[in-house]
Amino acid sequence: GGLQVKFRAKGKIYFGTCADPNTLNIASNTNVLKKDFGQLTPENSMKWDATEPSRGNFNFGNADTLVNWATSNGKLIRGHTLVWHSQLPGWVNNINDRNTLVCVNLRQNPLEMKVLISSKLQTTVIQNHAQSVAGREIFNEDGSLRSSVFSRVLGESFVTIAFQAARKADPAAVLYINDYNLDSANAKVRGLVNLVNRVNQANPGTIDGAGTQMHLQANGAGGAQAALNALAAADVKEVAITELDIVNASANDYTAVVRACLNTPKCVGITVWGVSDANSWRSGSNPLLFDRSYNPKAAYTAIINML
Ligand code: G3I
Repeated sequence: GGLQVKFRAKGKIYFGTCADPNTLNIASNTNVLKKDFGQLTPENSMKWDATEPSRGNFNFGNADTLVNWATSNGKLIRGHTLVWHSQLPGWVNNINDRNTLVCVNLRQNPLEMKVLISSKLQTTVIQNHAQSVAGREIFNEDGSLRSSVFSRVLGESFVTIAFQAARKADPAAVLYINDYNLDSANAKVRGLVNLVNRVNQANPGTIDGAGTQMHLQANGAGGAQAALNALAAADVKEVAITELDIVNASANDYTAVVRACLNTPKCVGITVWGVSDANSWRSGSNPLLFDRSYNPKAAYTAIINML
């Protein structure tokens, strides 16, 4: 069996990756997806600049392609991403009025987007388990809130507002907060844990899960277990590794991260950020499990042997 089958046999829900129409067009890539991966995250097609490039002008073509491929091949889907400071269309960045932002961001756009996505997600919900990412990359490295159009106009309340809007749009989705550099028990992890606990104490059950992206440097896996322990200690039902890639992709680094998830009861899954080094956003550092010819690398074999 491939990664998904073996990871599930260990009690986990998914071993996934990201995709979009550009990589779903490559047969050697989809062969690997079918055999090894159980979950897909749209790499770019559900970001706001892709789904609503100008106000009221929605485009779900690429997102639909991804969702249709995933559902017809029995793969779970993580929505990605609802509220993010990056890859925002200019018209959103320029809003400075609270009422307009709440209306545009949290009533009009995400609801329409979520309703559309969730109608497709129903299939996977029936199959098993839907995951949706609602808040992303909202922290500075010291754990304070990052300055964005959301935090400037709405303050911390945008987090609760966004999760409540997502819940209303798709009550079956599992809603995650997710960020990068949550790779050890650092100040940013503490900031995220404190925010999740504040939000869920005020409004119980608002945030379901905490995700760590884990875009790691070489030899950067040493803090992974401590990071997962800290995230799992927050008031959440589950945690996940959502965008894993590691410079040079050594077998030791990759097995350390997979072992950390195996050792963390609340860790439900791992998503690596791409299949082949050829299509990685960090292509030059060869951070993935398959080489440029879509052949498995040493780290892949090490994970399979470990599982
Ligand atoms: O689609 C255009 C294409 O028409 C144009 O010719 C080309 C020229 O540069 O650009 C293409 O768009 C690029 C897009 O990826 C699709 O390939 C953008 O320039 C490029 O900026 C974009 O990069 C994405 C990046 O997010 C943007 O911040 C990466 O693919 C994607 O892997 C990366 O993923 C993010 C996660 O969503 C969130 N966490 C961090 C992670 C890494 O930055």
